[in-house]
Amino acid sequence: MIIKTILSPFKNFAWFKRLNAKVTYELLAKHIPAEDWHFMNYGYAPKPNEAPLQLAEPPTQKYPLQMYHYLASKTSLEGKQILEVGSGRGGGARHLASHFKPASYTGLDLAQHAVDLANKLHKIPHLRFIQGSAEDIPLADNSVDVVINVESCHAYGSVEKFLNEVKRVLKPNGYFLMVDFRYAVDMDTLKNQLKNSGLEMVEEENITAHVIEAIEAEDDVKQDRIRRLIPKKWQKLFAEFAGVVGSKFYRNLKDQTRFYYRYVMKKNS
Ligand SMILES: C[S@@+](CC[C@H](N)C(=O)[O-])C[C@H]1O[C@@H](n2cnc3c(N)ncnc32)[C@H](O)[C@@H]1O
Repeated sequence: MIIKTILSPFKNFAWFKRLNAKVTYELLAKHIPAEDWHFMNYGYAPKPNEAPLQLAEPPTQKYPLQMYHYLASKTSLEGKQILEVGSGRGGGARHLASHFKPASYTGLDLAQHAVDLANKLHKIPHLRFIQGSAEDIPLADNSVDVVINVESCHAYGSVEKFLNEVKRVLKPNGYFLMVDFRYAVDMDTLKNQLKNSGLEMVEEENITAHVIEAIEAEDDVKQDRIRRLIPKKWQKLFAEFAGVVGSKFYRNLKDQTRFYYRYVMKKNS
């Protein structure tokens, strides 16, 4: 609580957001290298008109995997060059690279420990994880068909710089698929950033209700994972971070002080 109060005046500075993301995700990957924890998003319960997900083996984190699956279903990945920015522990990259058969899939993340963990856990053809920043993507201009971004850009120092980089690396007619949350008071800022990105808005959906449904459906599994993986003294703090039922994040979605959106954007030729 004291630390939160001391840090709160800095939380909107770009340098603080970058540092906060780097420290948080380096620590998580370094200190909790659990091999059955592959995702760090809040999850998605599909709409009735989205085909139910049939997988040969039931995933350990079904709802976070579905967040990736239904986002990626918005365009074809087959035979394409895919870049994911903010790939975390790599579970989403692994699912999309094996299920949708892209020619290549690169997961980029700021946290070196997350990249090392993902490279260790997910050794499949055409998939690699590299360290780098969303605000300075280490790939050539016009080299990527689809950029995927799952629950990551709220943490960036400059979303505008990130969107410039997305536009630069995308090939003409390439797609940018993104899901993330914002406080209600920050939604207009995000919408303006996307509008001014030079990319065409193809779809914009408020998926808050489907994230709430996922959080509620996954709660027992999530609480159990926290009890197994997290030292007792950190469990309460971690439960907040993980967005369990009753956490601030969950309450904010319920009372509409935060929203969760899905976007499909295109770089026109
Ligand atoms: C909430 S986690 C989501 C991870 C993954 N997308 C998933 O759904 O499991 C956010 C991720 O974004 C990464 N990240 C934060 N800032 C970044 C930046 N500037 N450049 C690249 N990755 C960043 C973090 O290291 C972290 O792995």
